[in-house]
Amino acid sequence: WGPEGHRIVAHIAEMRLEPAVRNTLERDFNIKHLTSIANWADRIKKEPGAADVLHYTNIAEGERAYVQRRDCPRRNCVTEKIFEYRDRVSDPARAHARRVEALKFLVHLVADVHQPMHLGNARDRGGNEITVRVGRHRTNLHALWDSGLIDLDGQSLLHYARALHAGLTPEQVQDWQRGDAVAWTNESRALVLTYGYDLLQDERGRLAVRYLERGRQVVATQLLKAGVRLAHLLNRTLQ
Ligand code: ADE
Ligand code: ZN
Ligand code: ZN
Repeated sequence: WGPEGHRIVAHIAEMRLEPAVRNTLERDFNIKHLTSIANWADRIKKEPGAADVLHYTNIAEGERAYVQRRDCPRRNCVTEKIFEYRDRVSDPARAHARRVEALKFLVHLVADVHQPMHLGNARDRGGNEITVRVGRHRTNLHALWDSGLIDLDGQSLLHYARALHAGLTPEQVQDWQRGDAVAWTNESRALVLTYGYDLLQDERGRLAVRYLERGRQVVATQLLKAGVRLAHLLNRTLQ
């Protein structure tokens, strides 16, 4: 996601944190709001060492289900890093600064694994190499899904996050809180194959309204899911 997507997910997660976990975040991690750390992992990407944390997982072309030994042999993909940082955040044997860093990665990567293009194909770098036309604009498929399909409709990020969260049902919460980072990976993979790469276009080569509408719907649901799951993960990990 772009900065806005990460902030929306952080806002939603924050609405669902248990009071004890809020306290832990403030007291032990010196973090008052998740939005303040949500984009840190993208800002430090160019620093030495950061290169070994991928914000995506490339599942083998033609395959739907993630297999660690095949798709992430170095365990540096978003899927495996979520497990690694989840364990590190609550590991008392780790230095404090390393646990803070793990939390900052975790908040970011749980969001990124919900962006369907982050489960795209290696050959087009998750849509980065695919140029698309949206109305009169040209962009690439990855950027479109990172930010172009987020439909704020003039609202602030907080208002948009509140509106998404207000539509959440108890059934969705129950359903979405099952499963781990591998399940989230496979879900995003299915979405990118069904809605991402199926480039419906009009006669002039512009993306069809139907494609964009479906994409906006998928993006809204993925942002909400990511927020619900991030909160649940933090509520279990930071008691
Ligand atoms: N961003 C950069 N490279 C990528 C890839 N191969 N897949 C998904 N997202 C990416
Ligand atoms: Zn992206
Ligand atoms: Zn990222």
